[in-house]
Amino acid sequence: MPPVVAIEKIASYVGQEVTIRGWLYSKTDKGRLQFLQVRDGTGIVQAVAFQKELAAGAFEAAQKVRQESSLIITGTVRVDTRAPGFPGGYEVGLSDVQIVQLADEYPISPKEHGIDFLMDNRHLWLRSSRQWAILRVRATIIRATRDWLDGNGFLGVDTPILTPSACEDSTTLFATDYFGQPAYLTQSGQLYNEANIASFGRVYCFGPTFRAEKSKTRRHLTEFWMVEPEVAFCDLAGIMEIEEQFISSIVQAVLRERSQELALLGRDVARLETIVPPFPRISYDDALDLVAQIRAETADPEARSLLELPWGSDLGSPHETAIAEHFEKPVFVHHYPSQCKAFYMEPTPGRPEVCESVDLLAPEGHGEIIGGGQRMSRVEDLEAAIERVGVPREAYAWYLDLRRFGSTPHAGFGMGIERAVRWVCGLEHIRETIPYARTLGRIYP
Ligand code: 4AD
Ligand code: MG
Repeated sequence: MPPVVAIEKIASYVGQEVTIRGWLYSKTDKGRLQFLQVRDGTGIVQAVAFQKELAAGAFEAAQKVRQESSLIITGTVRVDTRAPGFPGGYEVGLSDVQIVQLADEYPISPKEHGIDFLMDNRHLWLRSSRQWAILRVRATIIRATRDWLDGNGFLGVDTPILTPSACEDSTTLFATDYFGQPAYLTQSGQLYNEANIASFGRVYCFGPTFRAEKSKTRRHLTEFWMVEPEVAFCDLAGIMEIEEQFISSIVQAVLRERSQELALLGRDVARLETIVPPFPRISYDDALDLVAQIRAETADPEARSLLELPWGSDLGSPHETAIAEHFEKPVFVHHYPSQCKAFYMEPTPGRPEVCESVDLLAPEGHGEIIGGGQRMSRVEDLEAAIERVGVPREAYAWYLDLRRFGSTPHAGFGMGIERAVRWVCGLEHIRETIPYARTLGRIYP
């Protein structure tokens, strides 16, 4: 019996007879020659059924097999530089074709389909080579994320998903009933990370997070995966250095391991090759000047009005795009006004209207991929902040404790995996970066 092989390893089997188990991706019928594009989860290979080389039943199977039928093929691997596929360049000269299940008429044909149709058929759309390539890049980003953190002194410490109180904006909480008490799906594990650093020094959590985002945008999901590192004895400057090392190592890992996927996606990798430390850093105040300058040079009245930004307002997507377009690499914007950031941000010494916060904006219009900064370390500041936002103090009693028992300057950040995938893959919309996107108005399939 020939060995069952993975298409990604096909180069090692040239001249040998192999068996491949998979699905029919597409087919070209040339009469006595049937060209089957077969995928097995690891790649796509061209398999050729030539009538006189197959038993009659096997050739009939090759003739009648339909798109996305499951099948088992056997044949001899040969080099053919013109052969399409992934990796491509190899062909299987078939000796046998067995249909495992003859698929019904497949709804996703090679013609163009609308996005709603594709999202309704996401369970099938995942088989398309583009979606397949994106999710392989995603898996590498996740692995590289953990590798860098595990290799740089961070301990993975899990944080809860069911929580009694908000970490970020309380208007985006998903509420649930916890045995008669209100509870919320987590927006961020940060507050727990801040407890965990006093036990472990450097920690990270990595899990699903939830935001009831009521707006339809190309970069918001209601369920997304966030990695959140947190570091004891670290300030704003220290966390920026960690972020640029972290992001650069992830991008370089994708370039090394997923160059074929990036090519399939048509990604301009030259824009990724430059992603190495250091990244530019500008203050919020300077970012505002830059936006004002870009606005002054903008002729289109609509674009001009979108770029308007009074001091104290948070950067919106048009501003982030304008700022990031100015730089080759991701850019840090630091020292945002306290009023546009969460309650836990450390006030800047001598300038209490701004805080030790930093966002990392990705180039090519992608905008914020990381949010973070230095946290309040004095109990009085935190008590005042909790009072100011008007949340029940009891809910944060444990969080205040952290400032009473061995408080340290500390900092951390959160990176949304889907934002990172969108940027690295160069995608228009975040909905393709996660297997089953959850957005305003979509929770199927
Ligand atoms: O800026 P955010 O809200 O920061 C926090 O949650 C902090 N507690 C993180 C920390 O310091 N530990 O979110 C962090 C990142 C954003 O930069 C973005 O990449 C992603 O999470 N993110 C979203 N991604 C997809 N859809 C959404 N609705 C997102 N909201 C935030
Ligand atoms: Mg943010």
